[in-house]
Amino acid sequence: GKYRVVSTKPMPGTRWINLLVDQGCRVEICHLKKTILSVEDIIDLIGNRCDGVIGQLTEDWGETLFSALSKAGGKAFSNMAVGYNNVDVEAANKYGIAVGNTPGVLTETTAELAASLSLAAARRIVEADGFMRAGLYEGWLPHLFVGNLLKGQTVGVIGAGRIGSAYARMMVEGFKMNLIYFDLYQSTRLEKFVTAYGQFLKANGEQPVTWKRASSMEEVLREADLISLHPVLDKTTYHLVNKERLAMMKKEAILVNCSRGPVIDEEALVNHLRENPMFRVGLDVFEEEPFMKPGLADMKNAIVVPHIASASKWTREGMATLAALNVVGRIKGYPIWSDPNRVDPFLNENASPPN
Ligand code: GLV
Ligand code: GLV
Repeated sequence: GKYRVVSTKPMPGTRWINLLVDQGCRVEICHLKKTILSVEDIIDLIGNRCDGVIGQLTEDWGETLFSALSKAGGKAFSNMAVGYNNVDVEAANKYGIAVGNTPGVLTETTAELAASLSLAAARRIVEADGFMRAGLYEGWLPHLFVGNLLKGQTVGVIGAGRIGSAYARMMVEGFKMNLIYFDLYQSTRLEKFVTAYGQFLKANGEQPVTWKRASSMEEVLREADLISLHPVLDKTTYHLVNKERLAMMKKEAILVNCSRGPVIDEEALVNHLRENPMFRVGLDVFEEEPFMKPGLADMKNAIVVPHIASASKWTREGMATLAALNVVGRIKGYPIWSDPNRVDPFLNENASPPN
């Protein structure tokens, strides 16, 4: 091939490879037997000739790597992820390298995991599973693993973008929860959905669901029974959930995080879980992956899974394909397929700007 494209990891499916090869690229996939590549590993991979790279969210794409990629003639980098807090987009742009991410294909998959963690936490499924396997079940009891009924409770969504909105719809429609959300943008589509569903329920003689756009994050934390975090990780959302904000939440609330670990002060969370046994949490992401803060693994009121929110076959193949499209598009002189700097026209089609 005319162009050399490197993928720092083997990725699911073959569509992404075929797509690159069809467009005249030679694809090199790194098969190093270590989970997380260092900056030095990646510099070796880039070598002295590389047109584009598909990288992973575990890698530190900053000044050093973009400078190396630029020296090798590189024009494009795509994260195989929607989040790009591991990428210094400014540094990339300084070297004339376009950056892409992979939104859209993981919206529903990620929302479904957030919903799974919500239900698992509400009904104490992991705890109950451990109890069965330990041979502790001696027969039905009125008090055994009593959890929360979601119907009629309030789901709080912080960050109502694609994923947060999809999650909100699932919880409202699936479990007849009322919605309170906080986002800088108004999600008119989401509001219309809840209104219409509420009217449908009312017409059928059921309690209608309601929605409210909160004027602050604190309002969501105080009022919701189940809260799911879907913000982008940046300076403004680092430790968004800290000791003070945990204290505002209901004692029996459930908190779910499928965004990025540092959005929660994990040490404060461990203390809060210890002091509030009825408070439950479902976590897909951690402050310093792959590690958990001391004590978290011992908490029965925490469910922890290893950053698998986008892990469905369809989605992962889609992410790989989008990442390949990003890179090859730019190499061929088109704008990057999904540029995180560009406002997403689908996401914001009904949105009004922040006030
Ligand atoms: C996964 O965490 C992603 O950002 O796609
Ligand atoms: C990410 O895809 C989001 O906008 O929620």
